[in-house]
Amino acid sequence: MTSTSSRSTLRPYRHSDRDALVALWSACGLLRPWNDPDRDIARKLAHDDDLLVLELDDRLIGSVMVGFDGHRGWVNYLAVDPRHQGNGHGATLMIEAERRLALRECPKVNLQVRTANEQAIGFYQHLGYTVDEVVSLGKRLFDDVAPPISQ
Ligand SMILES: CC(C)(COP(=O)(O)OP(=O)(O)OC[C@H]1O[C@@H](n2cnc3c(N)ncnc32)[C@H](O)[C@@H]1OP(=O)(O)O)[C@@H](O)C(=O)NCCC(=O)NCCS
Repeated sequence: MTSTSSRSTLRPYRHSDRDALVALWSACGLLRPWNDPDRDIARKLAHDDDLLVLELDDRLIGSVMVGFDGHRGWVNYLAVDPRHQGNGHGATLMIEAERRLALRECPKVNLQVRTANEQAIGFYQHLGYTVDEVVSLGKRLFDDVAPPISQ
């Protein structure tokens, strides 16, 4: 566990965080119809415990999912409760993400940000991230959303 101040704590996700975490992602506009948050959480926990949550006064107000593929580090699901944005919590989460990656000798962090998300792009640039001259490509390997329960 990483204590950041007497009021805030940065620690790995616990199963009891599920509802608050998904509510946070929803409030931050990070949920997408093609992603199932429960599957995303379950896969991450099966892989490692670098899904971190930030608590302030025992309320979950932030998250970051950190990954290292052996070549590059990745950050996903960075979120700060809109009621607590602008108070340095996003930077706290990113500093811890970078610290964990550097400990694993990861030389570079990559991020994917929607081009319309100017707020996040400005935030990352403020933290020293630069736009790489690359095109981001993706290929879906299977439909990842649970089918609706048949009536
Ligand atoms: C992006 C996000 C995590 C930032 O969190 P935050 O807690 O508001 O950011 P912080 O208060 O830690 O900001 C850290 C620094 O970045 C600066 N900053 C923040 N947004 C900025 C912007 N758009 N342009 C320039 N600087 C910015 C702050 O002024 C602060 O500077 P300082 O340390 O010199 O005072 C938050 O806005 C969020 O959850 N957004 C919705 C979810 C999202 O888009 N996530 C990213 C998906 S890729």
